[in-house]
Amino acid sequence: MCGITGIVGKQQVVDRLVDGLRRMEYRGYDSAGVCTIDRGQLIRRRAPGKLSNLVTELAENPAPGTTGIAHTRWATHGAPTRANAHPHATDCLALVHNGIIENFRALREALVARGRSFESDTDTEVVAHLMSEQIEAGLSPEEAVKVVLPQLRGAFALVIAFRSCPDMLIGARVGSPLVVGHGEGETYLGSDALALASLTQQITYLDEGDWVIATPGGVRIFDKDNRPVTRPVVASEASAAAIDKGDYPHFMLKEIFEQPTVVAQTLRNYVRQTDLSVALPQFDFDLSGITRITIVACGTSYYAGLVAKYWLEQFARLPVDIDVASEFRYRDPVLEPGGLALFISQSGETADTLAALRHCKAAGQTIAVVANVPTSSMAREADLLLPTHAGPEIGVASTKAFTCQLAVLAALAANFAVRRGRLDRAAEREIVAHLLEAPEQMAAALAHDDEIAAMAHLIAPARDVLYLGRGPDYPLALEGALKLKEISYIHAEGYASGEMKHGPIALIDEAVPVIVLAPSGPLFEKTVSNMQEVRARGGRVVLISDAEGIAEAGEGCLATIEMPKVHPLIAPLVYAVPMQLLAYHVACAKGTDVDQPRNLAKSVTVE
Ligand code: G6P
Repeated sequence: MCGITGIVGKQQVVDRLVDGLRRMEYRGYDSAGVCTIDRGQLIRRRAPGKLSNLVTELAENPAPGTTGIAHTRWATHGAPTRANAHPHATDCLALVHNGIIENFRALREALVARGRSFESDTDTEVVAHLMSEQIEAGLSPEEAVKVVLPQLRGAFALVIAFRSCPDMLIGARVGSPLVVGHGEGETYLGSDALALASLTQQITYLDEGDWVIATPGGVRIFDKDNRPVTRPVVASEASAAAIDKGDYPHFMLKEIFEQPTVVAQTLRNYVRQTDLSVALPQFDFDLSGITRITIVACGTSYYAGLVAKYWLEQFARLPVDIDVASEFRYRDPVLEPGGLALFISQSGETADTLAALRHCKAAGQTIAVVANVPTSSMAREADLLLPTHAGPEIGVASTKAFTCQLAVLAALAANFAVRRGRLDRAAEREIVAHLLEAPEQMAAALAHDDEIAAMAHLIAPARDVLYLGRGPDYPLALEGALKLKEISYIHAEGYASGEMKHGPIALIDEAVPVIVLAPSGPLFEKTVSNMQEVRARGGRVVLISDAEGIAEAGEGCLATIEMPKVHPLIAPLVYAVPMQLLAYHVACAKGTDVDQPRNLAKSVTVE
């Protein structure tokens, strides 16, 4: 999603601005641009497509200056063209924006009626004109911001450069993230600490509604009521070194292979190995009065939540509602007193999930957040923060964050079960022992990488693929289908295997591969019956099971992938691995852009 950097300093900025954009490339974007101020002129360079196009443009037409702003745009209003790329500019200022100005149509009509003409189809350009009107009327940039910000509705982060004030940038955040970086005689603004990591580790996280005046000497911060405020400077842990792929061809593959390590790292924070007990990071947090759990998330994180619903109901006997965030807010959910609202997010910034969190907070729910970025908006607004320790996830398609979320959620379910008297010490020890087996079993699943790569050609030509699973493997079927469509652009559907005969069975023919997830265990026979229904209709099945399951039902399948035999509790963590590897190798076989698939964004900061 859109990425912002800004530098107000003493040395040339353009290369460093572009470096900041490069660090945010993983978020997904479709055009890029910079604007510097040089000898009283705004120097603007923009290019559609990859950042390399902007770099080529800058080689031909440099952008000198010691103050500048830069942006990668993920198109919302208007196609990804040069004219719609940020920065947007008027004679007196240039600005970059992340988020959506929801009332832009009304604002634009009023501006046009007042004689302003527009160059782009974006919502952003209205802000440039609104600010310019005030500046042209004689207001200072500071006064103009105070007039314009209250007119904007929606979620946004803005950074504005003024032609007549070359030593100043103004930034503002409502909903979308923006951080301040503190340097030696320089000040930085950026979408996150990672974007600024090669410039500084000294970061200030702005609160909701804050706006700032940044100069080389520092920042003045104001709250939404324009009162001067102080926000702490904290040391960022984001690494200054460019995050690299090591020996892997893609970040996604590297992150898939990191899973045994990062899941073990995450579990260390949730279980005590000495006595095999579960221990949440905020152990003294009182969960005893919780009577109901509402889980809200998007994308892959939502599927982690669906798995957690099975666990929380099975182990803790707590009723669980679950929704995708974009639906949750608008269906007027019933939120009774004593409820815990649980939000799951890799980034901690997904706009819909964040808005749902705020809705639940206002409704008096206790807020728990499972997030991979501990400094994110969601993490900072949580009553109970449950961090995943996956490390930065760069591939747009989430992999290691998902399995770390599952590890945290399994520990949470066990913890609730213990507190509610549903698990005695012996059962708790058993559960923890199984959880601790997950990293090793995931490593065993990864050992099948070559075999899965070799079967990618069976799936790559397909136009449609079905994924089937039952119980906690049903959300995994959904996740497997999501992975495949995200990165290989093959249409894929995940279905509860028992539900297949209520519709998708009509799709079955020899051209539609069906991936069946069926660990041996209590649900195996039923899933295999559904698989036979597929085969009886000429369907070609890829069976993912353990040796026992494959011995029983593998004959006649198009292919089989053998997983280690694992306890049902950790099966979702282990079976996630072949889902990810299959999607990855099919995408490679099709030659798609695995780490930055078309149209997708890593951190979706617009609703
Ligand atoms: C985007 C990403 C997905 C991710 C989803 C939710 O769509 O491409 O990989 O699962 O957002 O993101 P979150 O950061 O809230 O987990």
